[in-house]
Amino acid sequence: MGPERLTAGDGGRRMWPSPGRKGRAAQEGIHMAEASAPGVSEPRIPFALPDIGDGVIAAVVEALRSGWITTGPRVHQFEEQFAEAVGAPHALAVNSATSGLHLALEASGVVTDDAVIVPTVTFAASAETVRYLGAHPVLADVDPATGLMAPEHCREAIGRAEAAGWRVAAVMPVHLAGQACDMDGLVEVAGAIGARVVEDAAHAFPATHHSRPIGSIGDFTVFSFYATKALTTGEGGMITTADAGAAARMKVMRLHGIDRDAWDRYNRDDPGWYYEVIAPGFKYNMTDIAAAMGIEQLRRSEDLWARRAAIAGRYREGLAGTGIEPLRVDRPGDRHAWHLFVVRLPEGLARDDLVAALAAAGIGTSVHFIPLHRMPYYRDTYRLSGDRFPGAEAYYASCLSLPIYTRMSDADVDRVLAACRTAARAAS
Ligand SMILES: Cc1ncc(COP(=O)(O)O)c(C=O)c1O
Repeated sequence: MGPERLTAGDGGRRMWPSPGRKGRAAQEGIHMAEASAPGVSEPRIPFALPDIGDGVIAAVVEALRSGWITTGPRVHQFEEQFAEAVGAPHALAVNSATSGLHLALEASGVVTDDAVIVPTVTFAASAETVRYLGAHPVLADVDPATGLMAPEHCREAIGRAEAAGWRVAAVMPVHLAGQACDMDGLVEVAGAIGARVVEDAAHAFPATHHSRPIGSIGDFTVFSFYATKALTTGEGGMITTADAGAAARMKVMRLHGIDRDAWDRYNRDDPGWYYEVIAPGFKYNMTDIAAAMGIEQLRRSEDLWARRAAIAGRYREGLAGTGIEPLRVDRPGDRHAWHLFVVRLPEGLARDDLVAALAAAGIGTSVHFIPLHRMPYYRDTYRLSGDRFPGAEAYYASCLSLPIYTRMSDADVDRVLAACRTAARAAS
């Protein structure tokens, strides 16, 4: 099936909260509404919509009817297929990227009063999982043209961590929007101090860096399958690694520190009721219902990606000459996953004005992300101020995410472009 004819299911517009309602969407700064703005006759273009086709619905029904709905054969199948898709020896399915980051950091040996280098332009999950372990997220600046932490930003943050007397146990590149960080440089910086590399690839399936899939580069890579992601299981995530020992540790820790999961105990060649708790673990396993969605979405992932890439191409062409600049992308050999389409606005075009103009035209937008050094918890706990993060401050001052999802038609994209052009002209 060609990308233009992707099946649109009915899982849709009404799942999103109205503007102003609290919840995850609100925390992420997603501006969404159920109906078009007053006076707008065309249907609303929300910021994000999952692509739930008949195949996903049938796969979920089959899982429900199978009699095995928690972690079981579908999770194992999804793990195997995902590992193959990203060229990783091991893949572990979890119930969110947040739990995946926690498990990966724990398996990296991060302990109390260690430091982990995290870019300041990211979602709360990247840093909070470091705090779960009693360690310190030391925030790094980013390149304003890409929103990404570069090796020099990482080095500068390592210097601050060491000055505070903390061992830097891990470095966490975040592949913002779906474009890869400079992994060669970051792996080298981490390697020089013996730190592990835990990639936050929540946005980065299916992305590549120098033709290598994201998922096959760092010590650990963590993907998100949250509702707005390119591959979704509603809630869910995946950790990939080449480290067999760490994979075994994470497998145990994702399910209460028990050495055998239920499927192992009751369905393998040597079934038995006996198990041992070998560590105080967590409850982070994925269900077979979610895995059924994942398997089906993975099967379609190239088509889904192609549609996102086509939308990004149309945006880039249509924005030329407006002063509204897409983030710099297209490093040779890199494939952008196009989870987000982020633009930077010219001086004179205020973000709030463009958000309001787009909302008036029935179009949802979002901001990724308010830098963590501006968040009261991190600002006050670590006494941070914006002067230390000039790149992130410049990025944040002018960034805006436009809608990009497979169910957008070319006409939808053209409506967004027309509204952007009108706002840009009015501001110039
Ligand atoms: C950069 C980043 N990291 C981590 C996460 C956490 O993902 P999840 O919701 O699957 O826990 C998100 C969620 O959107 C994210 O944007």
